[in-house]
Amino acid sequence: MDKSILITSSVLNADFGNLAADIRMINDSQADFIHLDIMDGMFVPNISFGFPVVEAISKIARKPMEAHLMIEQPDRYVERFAKAGCSWLSVHYEACPHLHRSLQLIKSCGMKSGIALNPHTPVSLLEDILDMADLVILMSVNPGFGGQKFIPATMGKIEKLRAMIDKAGLDTLIEIDGGVNKDNVASLLNAGADMVVAGSAVFKAENPVEYIRLMKEAR
Ligand code: DX5
Ligand code: ZN
Repeated sequence: MDKSILITSSVLNADFGNLAADIRMINDSQADFIHLDIMDGMFVPNISFGFPVVEAISKIARKPMEAHLMIEQPDRYVERFAKAGCSWLSVHYEACPHLHRSLQLIKSCGMKSGIALNPHTPVSLLEDILDMADLVILMSVNPGFGGQKFIPATMGKIEKLRAMIDKAGLDTLIEIDGGVNKDNVASLLNAGADMVVAGSAVFKAENPVEYIRLMKEAR
């Protein structure tokens, strides 16, 4: 396959004492997006960071910011994420009783809309909403923490979702989030993924820019 994977680099495992340096590293790399993991301590058992940090990143970032909201009632904050500079915004299927309305709201604020699915949530549930989504994030770990192990059952979900998107003639992107590294990225691409989150594997690497290049060039 000729297509190369899109890389969205998560700052969850960055050095928050020296965040600017890590954002510049992402700027200098082949990453396509910056992935912002927003956690409220309710939807997931962890709290990450909020608007002051997003706004600070926005001032330095030279790649589009793609935020992944792991929060309850995300509609409350959609407009503020747009104002803070995010161009893509994803909400969790499991957190949105009125998902259609949430996606409409994201689009009305001028952002691309995304739906994130927990590992236990079947992709078939997206059948009647898929045409509203620019992006679907398939969680390949339980959301809340970086550095977890990839859940193998994600592979079948990628294939099913790819078939649904192609059958409907949509250009919705499939993003895989959690436990992705240079050794499994080619299998995700071949199963039908368009984009992967590069998280702790990058920040653990001796040369993060080079590690992102290896992920980008995986086939
Ligand atoms: C997990 C987050 C991920 C996380 C991925 O809740 O959504 O984006 O940063 O980190 P790694 O790549 O370390 O699994
Ligand atoms: Zn994420």
